[in-house]
Amino acid sequence: MQIRKVMDLAWKLPKWIFEFLSWGKSFKNNPIIGNYWLNRCGLHVARVILAHFLFRLRILLLSPLVSKEDRKDFLENGFILKKDFLPEEQFSKLSIALKNYKGVIREIVEGTTLTQRAFMDYSSRQQAPEFCQLVRNSYLDRLMRYSSSKNRPPFFFIENLCNHANVAPRPDPQRDMHADTFHPCVKAWLYIDGTDDQNGPYIYVPGSHRLSWRRLKWEYRQSLKACQKGVLRDKGRYWDGSFRVNDTALAEMGLSAEKLCVPANTLLIANVYGFHRRGEASAKSNRMTIWMQARDNPFNPLFTPCPKYTGRLFEWGWGKALQRLDKRKIASGEQNNYLGRFTRNTDRLQSHKK
Ligand SMILES: [Fe+2]
Repeated sequence: MQIRKVMDLAWKLPKWIFEFLSWGKSFKNNPIIGNYWLNRCGLHVARVILAHFLFRLRILLLSPLVSKEDRKDFLENGFILKKDFLPEEQFSKLSIALKNYKGVIREIVEGTTLTQRAFMDYSSRQQAPEFCQLVRNSYLDRLMRYSSSKNRPPFFFIENLCNHANVAPRPDPQRDMHADTFHPCVKAWLYIDGTDDQNGPYIYVPGSHRLSWRRLKWEYRQSLKACQKGVLRDKGRYWDGSFRVNDTALAEMGLSAEKLCVPANTLLIANVYGFHRRGEASAKSNRMTIWMQARDNPFNPLFTPCPKYTGRLFEWGWGKALQRLDKRKIASGEQNNYLGRFTRNTDRLQSHKK
């Protein structure tokens, strides 16, 4: 029995150390990150500060990629918002192509929202020339390479939300105000559908990406709370490193949320260390976006000198990782995969896989 325990530890320890030295954030699954006494001595806060310092250093070196105005928006507010991002004709063709796109779609349920995503890697993009044209957009490329601080293109997805879908409701982590992780990283959306109260706009807290003294104190308190175990462990996902924040704590930090209702063809790039959530949708509706994500090792001080090839390599690796995750998630009933089109009318949810 002892031998088995030692073998188990020898197997897991390198993984825990790797996670600790990179993007690992789970206080529950990693006993180094989730160690109460280490966090009492400031481990989590030290990781937050170091990750932010290196992010600012990389972003400073990449600043020639974008205009002064875009840098100011990103550094002061935590997000860049560009209305009428694509020429009208290009956007219209792209929008039609995505609504008719047929491929492997992964769907999960959050609350009563059915989230459908297609990972648009290099080979998937070849089916949609309009998508390739967007990926080649030099302005988008420079914005993403800068804001990620890693100088590489993001992962591209088509995301289609079906609000108030005909599904068995599950807990919805997206509706709670939260930070994605302990370090700056970006997500971006090109809105194919405009957003309003009917289909749930994005809600962001401007300025909440900055490390203030009050934010650091809050991070410290949250890290101790996230270390709690057993029945003391909060069910509100404190343990996974995506800390939730309530209105009182936001007010104490001098912050307030802003609802970003935007027209179709708007690009939003947000630092998701800043607090954000998905707004409520009042009606059965869809919200389609091109969703982009760029997350990398925050403790690597370097960025790639070869964006295109590094991007392709990361995309290949992420494709493999998704396939591995598929097996577990499908087996647990958490996810469903199908080959087909996105559901664009929530009334027909039952028949979309035909
Ligand atoms: Fe999030």
